[in-house]
Amino acid sequence: MAYFDPEPKRRKEDFFDMEAEVEEFKRGLEVSKFVAVLGLRRYGKTSLILTTLNELGLDYVFVDCRLLPSGMISVSDLIAILERELSEKSWFRSIASSIEGIEVGPIGVRFRRRDLNTLVSVLERLEGKVLVLDEVQELRRSRYRFDSVLAYLYDHVDVKIVVSGSQVGMVHRFLRLEDPSAPLYGRPIYFVRLRPLDRERAREFLLKGFAQEGVDPPRDVVERALDVLDGVIGWLTYFGYAYTRLGVRDLDRIVDMASRLALEELEHALRIYGVGRPRYAAVLKIVAELGEATWSEIMRFLESRLGRVPRNTLSNILRNLVDMGVLMKTSSGYRVADPILRYAVKKYLRIG
Ligand SMILES: Nc1ncnc2c1ncn2[C@@H]1O[C@H](COP(=O)(O)OP(=O)(O)OP(=O)(O)O)[C@@H](O)[C@H]1O
Ligand SMILES: [Mg+2]
Repeated sequence: MAYFDPEPKRRKEDFFDMEAEVEEFKRGLEVSKFVAVLGLRRYGKTSLILTTLNELGLDYVFVDCRLLPSGMISVSDLIAILERELSEKSWFRSIASSIEGIEVGPIGVRFRRRDLNTLVSVLERLEGKVLVLDEVQELRRSRYRFDSVLAYLYDHVDVKIVVSGSQVGMVHRFLRLEDPSAPLYGRPIYFVRLRPLDRERAREFLLKGFAQEGVDPPRDVVERALDVLDGVIGWLTYFGYAYTRLGVRDLDRIVDMASRLALEELEHALRIYGVGRPRYAAVLKIVAELGEATWSEIMRFLESRLGRVPRNTLSNILRNLVDMGVLMKTSSGYRVADPILRYAVKKYLRIG
């Protein structure tokens, strides 16, 4: 049992009890066909979902939408992930041969035709199971509207749908629950929102984690870690892992290592904006530098670096960054949501 294992947790013994959130999630599964677990990066969504489904002994299919290729995605890309996942499930292998268009071979199940009809006929057979779409906002990048498949399952198949998303605004853009012309409009969805641990709980997590590793860290290192990591359980885990398993005993170095990871993820996410990237980078730079920045402060900096920028262009950039969970709105402006990302942007992000 080890809290500092970096992979998403699957077993109750490894899972630091987020009681309230687990209860919420269980309640969602009980009362609704569709549960959305939302929270920024590293808040513990995947661990919460997997640990709870395992604890409840439910059969589930876990689709990690981050494994989809970058750029536009197709039905076939989703099928590739499903094939791998379903191949591992003995209950699916035993029904697979009765599904039109599915082959069961020695290495697993294969969709003979990689089209929408086959996808739907497989999903229809998940009666009584749970379909998990982790990081569901990734399904937006498609000419095909996957939300209509979800609406179809919602209406016609006895399957529970669980989606998660760290780009909370993008999940809402994907689900379009408020748009009367959207497929999922009017379907009740149960939302579970994860938040960072408060300081007390974060300390408890670290101290228990260190005890599991048989390491007794100096009190002031723990307190400083709590200051900089803001209760984000993924960063607390990373810190514990680096300190105990990698033997890095210097908090500043660990923060620096973590920030490079965060920067890489940010660069990856900004790739979809192509030639627009410098503007996104400049916006992030000034917000991170100031800690909190107003719309006009951001505009002034942006124009000083990159020349004239239309007002609605900046509004779009800010809206995208907020919907991606990179920035958050404050009463007077914007700030970088994640403490490590803030550090990374300040120190390493290049505008040009
Ligand atoms: N309740 C928990 N107990 C112990 N460790 C946890 C817990 N929740 C998360 N972690 C750890 O924190 C890190 C992030 O967790 P997880 O991947 O579940 O979060 P996430 O919100 O899905 O993150 P991402 O946005 O990166 O997908 C992992 O290293 C995981 O092991
Ligand atoms: Mg996750």
